[in-house]
Amino acid sequence: MCVSERSSGSDVLVIGGGVIGLVTAWRAAQRGLRVTVADPAPGGGAAQVAAGMLAAVTELHYGEQMLLGLNLASAARYPSFVAELEEASGRDTGFRTCGTLAVALDSDDRAHLRELHALQERSGLESVWLSGRECRRLEPMLAPGVRGGLRVDGDHQVDPRRLAAALLTACERAGVAFRRTTAERLTVTGGRAAGALLGDGTEFAADQVVLAAGSLSGRLAGLPPELVPPVRPVKGQVLRLTVPRAYAPFLSRTVRAVVRGGHLYLVPRENGELVVGATSEEMGWDTTVTAGGVYELLRDAHELVPGITELPLTETRAGLRPASPDNAPLLGPTALPGLLLATGHHRNGVLLTPVTGDAMADVLTTGELPATARPFTPGRFEPAAPALQEQPA
Ligand code: GLY
Repeated sequence: MCVSERSSGSDVLVIGGGVIGLVTAWRAAQRGLRVTVADPAPGGGAAQVAAGMLAAVTELHYGEQMLLGLNLASAARYPSFVAELEEASGRDTGFRTCGTLAVALDSDDRAHLRELHALQERSGLESVWLSGRECRRLEPMLAPGVRGGLRVDGDHQVDPRRLAAALLTACERAGVAFRRTTAERLTVTGGRAAGALLGDGTEFAADQVVLAAGSLSGRLAGLPPELVPPVRPVKGQVLRLTVPRAYAPFLSRTVRAVVRGGHLYLVPRENGELVVGATSEEMGWDTTVTAGGVYELLRDAHELVPGITELPLTETRAGLRPASPDNAPLLGPTALPGLLLATGHHRNGVLLTPVTGDAMADVLTTGELPATARPFTPGRFEPAAPALQEQPA
């Protein structure tokens, strides 16, 4: 039985309480909108697994130049964003301006890194080529065989678990309401999104609905088939180790490498946590931690930093990246009035949290996305409107 709660609805219903949903809710509430978040466990999601690298430069991939602009804009926003969030929530986010060192273990890796360096230079990005000896001078725990590396002083880190907790508190303090249940079905009335049927049986009314459910975004019932977001889960297994005080500083900055074609990174936190990631697996909704995944990560990390085998292994976990066909997020209005998306952030959800919050608050209050976010509208994946379709001769 459905219980109508239309009278107690919101201006905005955000479906999904991960960092993207929470930042959208917080920023919209700051602009004076009445906001509700529907999520059985807000503050959870992929950010509970993510390492939190803010790696706009070292995670640059061929073909992602358009995304690079958004990534850089968000990286530049981070210091003021965390300052405001920490003030609003009274919580530390673990933001650390430590920089990153990307290293090569053999001549193939070195050739790959040289290519990346050239791409970075062509893209106007700052990175410095170092010899193996210079890399080890910066990070003495690196293997003696390291053949060279790139020092990127602008790629920092944040602790995604603390970020999520801070956003949750900031939302609560800004008056965001929470419905700790799932959103089962989008409600469409009179040709526009009008809320959702929630898992507790209530019909929740809202003027605007933001679908921010990460890799689950395509699973909401009631979406018009042509507007189902093309977002798929990409599994990442991640390890957490602890650096005993006597070993500190084990690493002083994020260290990453491409080993046997896989991306490996070690992210050292100030509290002694060392995050090692990550596999990238197309396995559907599977979040099993496998012996093979743990073995590969430890084997590759050991090649890079042999001393890692001395550290206590404290956690193994797998999460699901919400990947879109072009690896970039889907931000803003859809062809269904009242329905907006904030999803598909793939490898960059934590990095893109600040600009996503800004962009979604803009579009929710003015109907317009800021210029930086306009290339990322969901319309790039929607079928052409009938009037624009090619007509038969
Ligand atoms: N951004 C790191 C990852 O997706 O593994």
